[in-house]
Amino acid sequence: MIGGMEAKRIAVIPGDGVGPEVVAEALPILAWARSRGRELDWERLPFGADHFLATGETLPDEAFRSIRDGADGVLFGAVGDPRIPDGRHAEEILLRLRQDLQLGVNLRPCRPMLDALLPLRDVRAGEVDIDVYRENTEGPYCLQGQREPDRAVDLAIHSRAAVTRLLRAAFDGARARGTGLCLAHKANVLRHGHGLWMEIYRALQQEYEDVPARALHADALLCALVQDPRPFGVIAADNLFGDLVSDLLAAFQGGMGMAPSLSWAPHRPYRCGALAEPVHGSAPDLAGSGRANPTGVILSLGMLFRHFGWTTEAEVVEGSVASAIRAGAATTDLGGSLGTRTMGEALRAGLL
Ligand code: NAD
Ligand code: IPM
Ligand code: MN
Repeated sequence: MIGGMEAKRIAVIPGDGVGPEVVAEALPILAWARSRGRELDWERLPFGADHFLATGETLPDEAFRSIRDGADGVLFGAVGDPRIPDGRHAEEILLRLRQDLQLGVNLRPCRPMLDALLPLRDVRAGEVDIDVYRENTEGPYCLQGQREPDRAVDLAIHSRAAVTRLLRAAFDGARARGTGLCLAHKANVLRHGHGLWMEIYRALQQEYEDVPARALHADALLCALVQDPRPFGVIAADNLFGDLVSDLLAAFQGGMGMAPSLSWAPHRPYRCGALAEPVHGSAPDLAGSGRANPTGVILSLGMLFRHFGWTTEAEVVEGSVASAIRAGAATTDLGGSLGTRTMGEALRAGLL
């Protein structure tokens, strides 16, 4: 404790595949924030496929509790490994963190930085500015269901509490930015689950009458987004649709390696109230090649800084990244020739 402010503690879980490679490029930014006087500690935790295969442990209860009660946030790389095809460790590490820390709101922004990276005709990067609010704890991610030889059932749970928590955050976000809100749904088919979403959405519409809001069938929304993303400000979606929409929007930013995300618990039930992770996965096709793009995880860390109230640091990180990208810094996925480490250096060059 210095000056009455307890240090922020970050649990760093690099995970699998390209996760450790890209997280390594974000760690110097933690040291930079500390050098600017921020009280900050971090601890690297080994959980992921290698640890699971070596020990049988995914995320032990004791480690989970020490993150929950002893850290303020998690910086996460990615999980997923071809040696564990059922993804059990991913479920017990990543989904557990999201669900058991009650990180019900996952914000996945889309702010393309360079016209040349946007795959849409006649749309300029600066004209696209979308925040996806993804429900982060429910839907089919409850992983309940059953498999019979010729029949399979996946249950999707939608609770009033979680849907309200997500939609409130999305309406608040739209109000703060002065944009409209679009709810992605399929209430025409998912009558029960998305019926509840529509009911709660309509009630909140009355409360947030200053926010122009509309609900679109998720399939039609995807078409509209590709035709012209410029009218969209905030998109609210359930866990599964939010996952899909955010990968589409990653493409507008230049690809999977570019897109950041932050999840948080609005009611902050535990000390650990936030998880910063890129939108991309472990990219087994790239792992070990030294070519993964670290932009998404670095921007995710910037979002975590903003969540801590460290606005200046967040802006410096975002500014440094944007300047590098606009100056042409690019890994191979962006059409350039930089490797993960040289890209990391370029993205951090503006940190003063
Ligand atoms: P993926 O995001 O790992 O890869 C999709 C494509 O994007 C691949 O071509 C990959 O090379 C590319 N890509 C991803 N990250 C990149 C980066 N940083 N730089 C450059 N290119 C990048 O998705 P996938 O292939 O569907 O899944 C691979 C594994 O990751 C699976 O096990 C999946 O379950 C897991 N996954 C984990 C997370 C997570 O931990 N949050 C997210 C998505 C997928
Ligand atoms: C993501 C990923 C995860 C998800 C997987 C790995 C469970 O795709 O973070 O977007 O579906 O949430
Ligand atoms: Mn995804």
